[in-house]
Amino acid sequence: MVHGAQLLFCTAVLLNVGAASVLGDRPSARSLSLQVEFAALNETVGGRLYTAVPWELPCFSEYNGTAVTPDEAACAIVQDNYTDPFTRVTHFGAYMASQWETCQAESPNAGCLLDLSDPTDPDAFDGVDCQLGNIPSYYIDVRYPSDVQAALNFSETTGVRLSVKNKGHDYKGRSSGKGTLALWVTNLNSISHNNSFVPEGCSTAYDAITIGPGAITEDIFEYVDNINRTFIGGYHQTIGAGGGYFLGGGHSVLSPVFGLAVDRVVQVKVVTPEGQYVTANECQHPELFFALRGGGGSAWGVVFESTHRLAPQVTLQVASIGFTEHANSSNLADWYELLVNETYRFGTEGWGGHIVGPTIIYVNSLLSNAEANASMQAVADFALDQGGTAVVEELPSYLAFFSKYVTLAEVGVGPETTMGSRLIPTSLFDNEVGRTTLSNTIKNVLSFVNPYIVVGTPFLYNYTVGTTSVTPAWRDSLWHLSIHSEWVWNSTVEYIAEQYTAVTQHAQLFRDITPGSGAYFNEGDVYEPNHTYSYWGENYEILRDIKEFYDPKGLLDCWQCVGWTGAEDTLYECFVEL
Ligand SMILES: Cc1cc2nc3c(=O)[nH]c(=O)nc-3n(C[C@H](O)[C@H](O)[C@H](O)COP(=O)(O)OP(=O)(O)OC[C@H]3O[C@@H](n4cnc5c(N)ncnc54)[C@H](O)[C@@H]3O)c2cc1C
Ligand SMILES: *[C@@H]1O[C@H](CO)[C@@H](O)[C@H](O)[C@H]1NC(C)=O
Ligand SMILES: *[C@@H]1O[C@H](CO)[C@@H](O)[C@H](O)[C@H]1NC(C)=O
Ligand SMILES: *[C@@H]1O[C@H](CO)[C@@H](O)[C@H](O)[C@H]1NC(C)=O
Ligand SMILES: *[C@@H]1O[C@H](CO)[C@@H](O)[C@H](O)[C@H]1NC(C)=O
Ligand SMILES: *[C@@H]1O[C@H](CO)[C@@H](O)[C@H](O)[C@H]1NC(C)=O
Ligand SMILES: *[C@@H]1O[C@H](CO)[C@@H](O)[C@H](O)[C@H]1NC(C)=O
Ligand SMILES: *[C@@H]1O[C@H](CO)[C@@H](O)[C@H](O)[C@H]1NC(C)=O
Ligand SMILES: *[C@@H]1O[C@H](CO)[C@@H](O)[C@H](O)[C@H]1NC(C)=O
Ligand SMILES: *[C@@H]1O[C@H](CO)[C@@H](O)[C@H](O)[C@H]1NC(C)=O
Ligand SMILES: *[C@@H]1O[C@H](CO)[C@@H](O)[C@H](O)[C@H]1NC(C)=O
Ligand SMILES: *[C@@H]1O[C@H](CO)[C@@H](O)[C@H](O)[C@H]1NC(C)=O
Ligand SMILES: *[C@@H]1O[C@H](CO)[C@@H](O)[C@H](O)[C@H]1NC(C)=O
Repeated sequence: MVHGAQLLFCTAVLLNVGAASVLGDRPSARSLSLQVEFAALNETVGGRLYTAVPWELPCFSEYNGTAVTPDEAACAIVQDNYTDPFTRVTHFGAYMASQWETCQAESPNAGCLLDLSDPTDPDAFDGVDCQLGNIPSYYIDVRYPSDVQAALNFSETTGVRLSVKNKGHDYKGRSSGKGTLALWVTNLNSISHNNSFVPEGCSTAYDAITIGPGAITEDIFEYVDNINRTFIGGYHQTIGAGGGYFLGGGHSVLSPVFGLAVDRVVQVKVVTPEGQYVTANECQHPELFFALRGGGGSAWGVVFESTHRLAPQVTLQVASIGFTEHANSSNLADWYELLVNETYRFGTEGWGGHIVGPTIIYVNSLLSNAEANASMQAVADFALDQGGTAVVEELPSYLAFFSKYVTLAEVGVGPETTMGSRLIPTSLFDNEVGRTTLSNTIKNVLSFVNPYIVVGTPFLYNYTVGTTSVTPAWRDSLWHLSIHSEWVWNSTVEYIAEQYTAVTQHAQLFRDITPGSGAYFNEGDVYEPNHTYSYWGENYEILRDIKEFYDPKGLLDCWQCVGWTGAEDTLYECFVEL
């Protein structure tokens, strides 16, 4: 049987070669026939096929070796909004981590980026050749399942590879891809509520919202606030909560009590790689549903909508404490050590939050204001002693918290940036040896970077074992800790490679003290070693079987995803080789 399959494969390859030579040996004949195929595809999708261009192109006077006329007004809009996520999400050729617009492996870096520190800096665009880089060549503005079916069919017949883009937040280049035809799902952005939603074929009813992948997190928070509910979502305004966010796990500062995004999803509608539009939930297509709950974006088909359980409106205690202007190497080390000391207790009390160097913003839905104040006393005292500030206040809703704090504190977009991360297990917090080990490791990386810590693991959430495919390490961890690095528009490929390497090496210090733990797929190291174990742990083998079943032809592939073909695939030619 194996031989038969191999034979079939060889015959197919030969037929392809044969078809090309029938059309003539000149390369233009093949590209001409491809153009005909693209025109037919365009007709099938109602004229919603587009040629992609870099978002920054209006600033340049040369594109791909040809002179073009800059558009000053359009360029000014790009420059003024270079770090604005709301502008970036509206342009196909813009990504939040901007190196994924470029072909990093090429020297000089082939792209069309501006100087982030001053987008009007003419050095970035005067006399510079703007390149499409790693941005897909074409995209379909996806509106209907038939659009995806046509693209899958097109990919199979032409060999043109596919990519899926939503809000462009991916940190690992999985929503771009040189030479690909992209499925842009950004306009599938509906939001609706049903307080007695019953998944198809099931009997349990949930108070839930159904969202398209393109609905942005902030709009969802506003929508549910209006109906006096809480949605468990990420710490940024424009993430596509119904796209890559939940597919990879999805953490929130409310996750310690309310679970990860994958814990709250009850149904997903998806066009599978074989072109079927299916409804997956606990009662039908349960294996696919399991895979969609943490198996990662891009791999299982194209999601059209997902339904998520809501929580009642919550009153929140917010602790905003820090000493930014007074931070130095010695008080920062003590600060992290204090937080390590307190983390287990904070976990049992239901706190979630972010630690960004000398500041924390934590929230709690279980404590009263007096209890929260007492709980945070030691941390507040520490910050005040350094000359910092401390507030522990009560806010009436998650939206009130999001609007007052998160919109100012969320991670900035636009830089070329990478991260390495690790889920830090309870065993490094609930005993003195563990705490000392962790504090010392943090101390050792402070000269490189202040670790960014998300207290967003489902520590108190009553999880039903086996229902999601994220690594089980999430269930027994208190921190998702990450190490970041950035570089600039004109960095050399060697320098870029050094940044990826440095991040991997510093993250390794945390891997070394957490054997058997894992990492967050959506916010992991681009070069994560042993990535299948880190992201999925013991779930990987079954995920791989499900992938083979639903995508037998491997039409959807992405970097370090389930069933990944590997870095040698030409799809990844723009990834830097370390
Ligand atoms: C500034 C910033 C802040 C962040 N904060 C958080 C946070 O607080 N919590 C958290 O958990 N994560 C956070 N993330 C990570 C975020 O969850 C991931 O980047 C996520 O993948 C983004 O999904 P997207 O659909 O918006 O992005 P995209 O880059 O468009 O897509 C991400 C991946 O999902 C795939 N995908 C997207 N839509 C679909 C679909 N409809 N069907 C199939 N595949 C799809 C893409 O192919 C790609 O592989 C943050 C990221 C950034 C840049
Ligand atoms: C697809 O068709 C539309 C409408 O006819 C057209 O505007 C668009 O340019 C076409 N796309 C491509 C890539 O040719
Ligand atoms: C850029 O030019 C090269 C050849 O000069 C061509 O093969 C390629 O398709 C062009 N790319 C774009 C995005 O136009
Ligand atoms: C971008 O910047 C301009 C100012 O140049 C501003 O008027 C506009 O609202 C911004 N946003 C978008 C989405 O263009
Ligand atoms: C798939 O492609 C073939 C050949 O291009 C075409 O004949 C067929 O109609 C397509 N099917 C779908 C569902 O688009
Ligand atoms: C809510 O879900 C129930 C059960 O599936 C269904 O009968 C009802 O029509 C839905 N309501 C709305 C407004 O969609
Ligand atoms: C988890 O379940 C236990 C026992 O049923 C209950 O006491 C606790 O409140 C639950 N926790 C959460 C966060 O719902
Ligand atoms: C909003 O929800 C909360 C929590 O369920 C409830 O106590 C409150 O009465 C509701 N308010 C309104 C206006 O419905
Ligand atoms: C952390 O706890 C240890 C003892 O468990 C103590 O020695 C150390 O001083 C504490 N660190 C801080 C900064 O409070
Ligand atoms: C760090 O800052 C604190 C508080 O401002 C100060 O007391 C301490 O001397 C400083 N330490 C170093 C090494 O600069
Ligand atoms: C905690 O409560 C005390 C007593 O009411 C108050 O003085 C203090 O400012 C509060 N701390 C914070 C951080 O809000
Ligand atoms: C990048 O450009 C800046 C000017 O914007 C220049 O100062 C710097 O030397 C350049 N770096 C490299 C590596 O070329
Ligand atoms: C990956 O990590 C797991 C858990 O530590 C280990 O059992 C496995 O052997 C590792 N695999 C590789 C290829 O290193």
